[in-house]
Amino acid sequence: MRHPPEHAEQRVYRSWWHDALCYQVYIRSFADSDGDGVGDLEGVRSRLGYLELLGVDALGLTPFYPSPMADHGYDVANPRDVDRLFGDLDAFDRLVTEATAHGIRVTIDLVPNHTSAAHPWFQSALLSGRGSAARERYLFRDGGGDGSVPPNNWVSAFGGPAWTRTQDGQWYLHLFAPEQPDLNWAHPDVPGDLIRTLRFWLDRGVSGFRVDVANGLAELAGEPDPGRDHDGVHEIHRMIRKVLDEYPGSLALGQIQVAGDERYLRPDELHLADNVQLVAAEFDADAVRRAIEESLSAVAGTGAQPTWTLANHDVVRQVSRYGGGAAGTRRARAMALVELGLPGVVHLYNGEELGLPDVDLPEAALRDPRWKRSGHRLPARDGCRVPLPWEGTEPPFGFTDGTRTWLPMPPEWMVLTVEQQLEDPDSTLSLYRHAIELRRRHPAFAGSTLDWFGAPAGCFAYRRRGGGLSCALNTTSAPVPLPPGELLLASGPLADRMLPPDTAAWLV
Ligand code: BGC
Ligand code: MG
Repeated sequence: MRHPPEHAEQRVYRSWWHDALCYQVYIRSFADSDGDGVGDLEGVRSRLGYLELLGVDALGLTPFYPSPMADHGYDVANPRDVDRLFGDLDAFDRLVTEATAHGIRVTIDLVPNHTSAAHPWFQSALLSGRGSAARERYLFRDGGGDGSVPPNNWVSAFGGPAWTRTQDGQWYLHLFAPEQPDLNWAHPDVPGDLIRTLRFWLDRGVSGFRVDVANGLAELAGEPDPGRDHDGVHEIHRMIRKVLDEYPGSLALGQIQVAGDERYLRPDELHLADNVQLVAAEFDADAVRRAIEESLSAVAGTGAQPTWTLANHDVVRQVSRYGGGAAGTRRARAMALVELGLPGVVHLYNGEELGLPDVDLPEAALRDPRWKRSGHRLPARDGCRVPLPWEGTEPPFGFTDGTRTWLPMPPEWMVLTVEQQLEDPDSTLSLYRHAIELRRRHPAFAGSTLDWFGAPAGCFAYRRRGGGLSCALNTTSAPVPLPPGELLLASGPLADRMLPPDTAAWLV
């Protein structure tokens, strides 16, 4: 199931991800095939035609491995199988085969930082007890004082101490939920098992991996100490890369949560770093420009392409981040042109092409362990994880044949379904399709360097040095003159060569 040889040949000149459009599928929420209200692999397969129409080069699937779902699959009990909730290995193989036929590659999420507490390794560590070899695969420590105090004061990313005490009194480390014990990367079984996992999926035809918590692996080698540039982490990435290099054209994309943390982009480590600077920037020309410039300079000299992301399954959707309502939608559309005009790799998060807002869910519907565990201090991530509306006039909008969906879908999404938007040339989906098509085919999108024009305060305009595409953005509340050039596409209506507020335009 390796990719056909022509891919390997093309790679001599340029890797497939050079300016790829990657589309993140949050598997629970994309499409459900079996009526249980939870998205699954067959659901993804059934919608490949849509993804091809959108112009997607690669899918990024969130974890679908057997899991107790304490963190919706980021707690993996067996990294080399499919949870029955999402299908089985045959369904996975069918998806890869059909995606390939649609010209779409499949990449998957690796979760090397931790396992599920239900993983056989952790179960045996608990049973084998203090001092046992089985405990060495995780980070068990004795407590402080009389043993009842956690070994140190670390807090988990989901709130509360990063240590949980076992029945025999020892503590184990979990940077996330207690159901996600951190692995000890200094133990040889741990890298050995990851290599098996890589090969397992590469042999089934995947084109690459997103390495979850790529920088968080930092506390692994030896004593816990997050944030340090441990040689051990470079070693892990080199090991991953070595296996990938045996499968030409396979990608290692690191999830890097800390800006400027691109230090693992090396010729023998990660190919790409997931960059969330655009997520962090408000809708303000200066802030967006700064995010773009910092992202470009972070990869300058590494040989790696920049990557751009406006949304993922962990953050509030951009329409809502930019203020919600009509203004939020206008701004999100403008930012789509800003992002899709940039050189490098673009990551879309499923539903952003529909202009979906975050959903304000009733508390009783919330499922995110981060919200629950933090005593409701940390915001729930459920609002950006609501299932996608496909067709029809009421929930579940073709997402499932059943009546229930794992998170409730708002009736107002009637006007945001794929079906509705495909027919409307002014819809957000049509804007994305048009922009993606131009980005793919138009020569103006060549070149990896940007020049910035002088622009009025609250506005910017960049130009691709190679192909000559200009992109102008207006984040003020008054119209400004368009820069010179012929209009290719605008995120909203223009009048008399003026760029209205909350609007972006492409010119050439
Ligand atoms: C994922 C989160 C998850 C966390 C723990 C992150 O990188 O994106 O959704 O909660 O890893 O595995
Ligand atoms: Mg299902």
